[in-house]
Amino acid sequence: MVKNNVSSAENLCENIRISKNGTLLFAGREAVEIIEKYGSPVFVFDEERVRENCRRYKTALREHFGADALPLYASKAASFKRIYEIIAEEGFGTDVVSSGEIYTAKLAGFPLERAYFHSNNKTDADIAYAIEEGVGCFVVDNVEELEVINAAALEKGKKQRVLLRLTPGIDPHTYAAVATGNVDSKFGSAIETGQAMKITGEALAMTGVELAGFHCHVGSQVFDADVFLKAADIMLRFIRDVKDEYGFECRELDLGGGFGVRYTDADPTLDVSEVIGQISERVKALSEKLGITLPKMRFEPGRSIVADACMTLYTVGTVKKIPGYKNYVSVDGGMTDNPRFALYGSKYTVALAKRMNDECDFKCSVVGRCCESGDILAEGVMLPSGIKRGDILAVFTTGAYNYSMSSNYNRVGRLPVVMIDKGGNDYVAVRRESLEDIARNDV
Ligand code: LLP
Repeated sequence: MVKNNVSSAENLCENIRISKNGTLLFAGREAVEIIEKYGSPVFVFDEERVRENCRRYKTALREHFGADALPLYASKAASFKRIYEIIAEEGFGTDVVSSGEIYTAKLAGFPLERAYFHSNNKTDADIAYAIEEGVGCFVVDNVEELEVINAAALEKGKKQRVLLRLTPGIDPHTYAAVATGNVDSKFGSAIETGQAMKITGEALAMTGVELAGFHCHVGSQVFDADVFLKAADIMLRFIRDVKDEYGFECRELDLGGGFGVRYTDADPTLDVSEVIGQISERVKALSEKLGITLPKMRFEPGRSIVADACMTLYTVGTVKKIPGYKNYVSVDGGMTDNPRFALYGSKYTVALAKRMNDECDFKCSVVGRCCESGDILAEGVMLPSGIKRGDILAVFTTGAYNYSMSSNYNRVGRLPVVMIDKGGNDYVAVRRESLEDIARNDV
């Protein structure tokens, strides 16, 4: 039998349900109601799911590492004012990578002393701005940057707390664009080449920075717990070596983000609490064995905080059947709001919001509206036959790296973000871009 879409959609996350009439419910609300109210296409966020995802990390960290462990939301996954407010309320810190993210967090009233400033190429202006705004910690990528931060802090009469980003030399078994833990990477200073030890010595000798510890991030969409355990091993041995070399006691260890999420039925489920439990056992046992003080732990989940807290709703336009070839279902968005298929070949689960129980016997590619053949959202997916112009199509698990990677290609406006709160009330977190917005900076 051909599977209907609800069985796979409902499997992805508890916030996806089906009504008695065969319509899609998201965060307890009729999806169709949201698109009718706010227009098409639209990102719909489940606020409570973001909070639940945060709490999963909070609870696991408290249980396994104690009260001084801090989860940092990697806000590159979805950065807008409301999300910073929510994660601040949930007691998170945040990882920011640009003046733009710092500014947005600041507008939201986020306590910037809990912000960690990343990026492999912070500009002089970024560095000055972040120090000025009181960003709590810089995650320093390389020696050149360290020198600029030191000078900028001294000039402002400050001592900037820093972590050093290191590359442990691990293959995270994920797609190439997001693998960052290898020695051959544009990120961080490699342990293997001796550069990590060298930059540590330089940081310790500087008076404008205060070295708190070390960071690594091996990659994204990782399901293999062993990858995190290996990273922890390598980092702890380095911390021991640093202690032997300089007598420096590392106080903070940040193991980055990367926890995988389910986009389709085929993806495994990663139990965050279990993985953090395993990391904790390893870190505690090895620290004791190596004779080093257990550092305060930091993790930086991005995707796993927001991905399943959002879906995108589109309206179907042209349905094109090319006999002997393929069927194309076009929607009123595409790579401008979700470039992940175009960039990584990422897979998504799709469904028709009013026909959730219908048999799916129509194989097609769901494509966007841009003037580019690569503008695809999902390839070779099954939808109900008879799909036609005006139908509402949902793409699930779009909370991470969709809104934040949106563009105005073809001068298409960015989508609004509509939130549904715990009580089932909807509200706008980000407005839809208007035609005026699109030409706003044209002189
Ligand atoms: N920390 C650092 C230093 C990172 O570079 C990243 C992601 C994270 C934390 C969060 O990783 P997550 O928990 O979200 O996996 N645009 C790509 C993802 C790029 C990830 C970049 N760094 C995508 O759409 O798959």
